[in-house]
Amino acid sequence: MITLSNIVKEYEGKQESGRAVDGLNLEIRKGEFVALLGPSGCGKTTTLMMLAGLLKPTSGDIHFNGKLVNHTEPKDRNIGMVFQSYALYPHLTVRDNIAFPLRERKMPKREAYERAKETSRILQIDHLLDRKPSQLSGGQQQRVAMARALSKDPEILLLDEPMSNLDARLKLDVRDEIRKIQRKLGVTTIIVTHDQEEALAISDRVAILNGGRIQQYAPPHELFNHPVNLFVASFLGSPPMNLILGQLQESGGRQIVLTEGFEYELPAGRRLEKEHMGKTVRFGIRPHDISICSADQPGSLRMKVDLVEHLGSGKLVKVMDPEGKLDTMIRLLTGNEVQVEAGDDIYVTFKADKFHLFDTENGGLNLTQHV
Ligand SMILES: Nc1ncnc2c1ncn2[C@@H]1O[C@H](COP(=O)(O)OP(=O)(O)O)[C@@H](O)[C@H]1O
Ligand SMILES: [Mg+2]
Repeated sequence: MITLSNIVKEYEGKQESGRAVDGLNLEIRKGEFVALLGPSGCGKTTTLMMLAGLLKPTSGDIHFNGKLVNHTEPKDRNIGMVFQSYALYPHLTVRDNIAFPLRERKMPKREAYERAKETSRILQIDHLLDRKPSQLSGGQQQRVAMARALSKDPEILLLDEPMSNLDARLKLDVRDEIRKIQRKLGVTTIIVTHDQEEALAISDRVAILNGGRIQQYAPPHELFNHPVNLFVASFLGSPPMNLILGQLQESGGRQIVLTEGFEYELPAGRRLEKEHMGKTVRFGIRPHDISICSADQPGSLRMKVDLVEHLGSGKLVKVMDPEGKLDTMIRLLTGNEVQVEAGDDIYVTFKADKFHLFDTENGGLNLTQHV
């Protein structure tokens, strides 16, 4: 188990721009695969470097299995690391690259080579041991870097954007590979990425960071279906969640969201506490939770189609209220069989159990309950 408690990191001479990491708390279970996900500059690499012992926290504690490691040297932390630029030693063979960390620890050559061979088998690069890095493809080089990190049988594997140098197709293969190896070896793994698809695909849990703080730490489906705030809601999902400005109102026992372009009554079971009435909110709904319907469907809203994009797997339809008063276009996804064109007047409905309401104050807190 890895525990980060109240970690703060201020780089020297960087105080004016605030803290790189600002009071971070995180717990990672033994054998877990966790991703740190967030926009560039949010503190992911800084956090990983502190776990590795290459940077010291300004304040806060890091524990590995209950033992304080704040002052433990990197070499004594039993970690393997793959950096974004996983620079292999170009003049060394694959075998010597993989054996390098072992030789550094004074392991006898024969034993180190034996270990390098074993690790290379797991990663299916044992036929490449005599080659130099320049004779390998990008994906093979990436595996050598993984093998090098795994050769000393680390308790913790730290990966910083390890797939950013690979092309899109190879990325998919390599990420499945990493996940398989991780499962097989049971090594606790923390991956840093700005790629949401990658993080959601391979992790047990994802910590979403912004401005050096954790916004939400949960399994992928939980983050996607129950974002705790506006940042998480808008960060995850492609095309992104629609976030329409409105106001919560109560009248005659009904609760409504009043936007510039439509009025939406909160269905039974999804009503909010009275204290929230009057608040300015963002009404959040994902594009695939909006459907085109007939005019007589209860609760349907009239919209004008502005643009239709063909995605291959379906259509992305951008609509606006008929008077064009909404603060933003609404995106919805439909199947290819749905006939719809720019300029059409259509009716849409929102899936009653899928919308969210975010306070525009209080850090964009999600006011809706889990359903
Ligand atoms: N060596 C450094 N000196 C000063 N500031 C740094 C240094 N490294 C990172 N920072 C700053 O700390 C913040 C977090 O950086 P980083 O952890 O690299 O973010 P990420 O990996 O999420 O992109 C950024 O504002 C960055 O400019
Ligand atoms: Mg980084």
